[in-house]
Amino acid sequence: MARRFASLVPFYEYDESRFFQTDGAPENIVAARRAGFERLSKVFAERFRKTAERTDEIAGGVSDLQFTSRYRVPFQFSAYVRRHFKAGSFLESSSGVTVNDLDGNRLYDLTGSYGVNVFGYDFYKECIERGTERVRGLGPVLGAYHPVTTYNVRRLLQISGLDEVSFHMSGTEAVMQAVRLARYHTGRTHLVRFCGSYHGWWGDVQPGVGNPLAARETYTLKDMDEASLRVLRNRRDIACVLINPLQALHPNVSAPGDSTLIDSGSKAHFDPAAYAAWLRELREVCTARGIVLIFDEVFVGFRLAPGGAQEYFDVRADMVTYGKTVAGGLPVGVLCGRATLMRRFREDRPADICFARGTFNAHPYVMGAMHEFLTRLDTDSVRDLYRDLEDTWNSRARRLNDRLTAADLPVQVANLSSIWTIYYAAPSRYNWMFQYYLRAAGLALSWVGTGRLIFSLNYTAGDFAEVADRILSAAEAMRRDEWWWSEPHLTNKSIRRRVFKEMIQARWASTGRPAASPIGSISSPRIK
Ligand SMILES: Cc1ncc(COP(=O)(O)O)c(C=O)c1O
Repeated sequence: MARRFASLVPFYEYDESRFFQTDGAPENIVAARRAGFERLSKVFAERFRKTAERTDEIAGGVSDLQFTSRYRVPFQFSAYVRRHFKAGSFLESSSGVTVNDLDGNRLYDLTGSYGVNVFGYDFYKECIERGTERVRGLGPVLGAYHPVTTYNVRRLLQISGLDEVSFHMSGTEAVMQAVRLARYHTGRTHLVRFCGSYHGWWGDVQPGVGNPLAARETYTLKDMDEASLRVLRNRRDIACVLINPLQALHPNVSAPGDSTLIDSGSKAHFDPAAYAAWLRELREVCTARGIVLIFDEVFVGFRLAPGGAQEYFDVRADMVTYGKTVAGGLPVGVLCGRATLMRRFREDRPADICFARGTFNAHPYVMGAMHEFLTRLDTDSVRDLYRDLEDTWNSRARRLNDRLTAADLPVQVANLSSIWTIYYAAPSRYNWMFQYYLRAAGLALSWVGTGRLIFSLNYTAGDFAEVADRILSAAEAMRRDEWWWSEPHLTNKSIRRRVFKEMIQARWASTGRPAASPIGSISSPRIK
């Protein structure tokens, strides 16, 4: 359905006059917005000049950059924003909780490097350096294991509470292997994932928008919903259930990103007791039905607790995937599982195997950095970072929300420990502008913008206070520039209705007939 709908959305964009008043703002508001936009655009041009120029140099030849730069804001605004805010994609160095760009700007890092950065960049630099020293003698020899791997295996099995481990090069691959083994051992075809959850970019776990093919052996069920348990109880073709515990922050919703921020409708809230109860129910039904329960902890593993989501929610899985942080800053995917599920052959049928290899699996340098990472988990300095983790991040979020509320700003945060998302309390078409005010305030965000902020655990109270002050002052500047002006009767529903109408108009304009079939050649009418 989502893919079909996506294929019907026509391209159109706002021209300069429309850009500032898509919500029907009066002239004085439009003028304030325009002045604010120009001021901010000058700040970007001066402050990020070299970084932006270097980015422009390669952008034409790097498909990733073209994609991310296009999808930072809703597509109707994108071209105009791209012309005025050159977001650079280069960094020179990092230290503490900050990164430095090519213009010498020191920015507080809220990207968390897609979740890899749990303990601070200096920690990972050391893991990579010390790990490299450990394996230098062997170098890039593949196929055999470096001796450091022995400890890694032992430690990963302790942490996961499972029997066997396999190493891969990315989280996506670890998930692929988990699902393949579940299918092999159960003899069933289908995997279950929950609405909105991300498990990497492999086709079977990404059945909606983004994948040109339909995933025919995937069921996408509603998270935290009794009806999904009934499906698991009644169907006979389900091999496994994949859980991404990050969804606890926004069940049934995809990772929030500013490119889809057309209104203020999306909210987030983490209820740990309710989510843990849901996991226990899933555990029960999976056990009863012989379905393999897989926790995909590629993102949250080691971030929520030393023992990951299993420890945090006190529920055990049959298989667990790890990735991102666990190789001390180098690329990796890890699968741990019960012995009966991890076996890739059958004693009684020698030709019936479950194949899985990968040239770079268990690469010595990756194993070296992982060894450092796992060893350091037991040091006092890392244990200290986990101390009062929940209270620390919950109270930081609460205090920031109190300050935002006291200042009457329409911005709030919700958090799952150190993973945060910003949401908006009043209907607006311009919330995505907030990412540019935050960047101008010296905060580094990932390309999804305000939807996902990831803090490393080495943020001190002082570091965080500085970030909180900057969030406040960015929001105040955005309000001063009138992006949050709204007519009294504006609702999120009326915004969505208006955008839908624009889409219908654009379909008419591009095809000369009502929307019925997928768009062939795309024209680009401007909406006046
Ligand atoms: C829960 C989860 N699973 C799998 C993946 C894929 O990992 P990778 O990007 O290393 O392939 C991700 C990446 O963000 C993830 O968050």
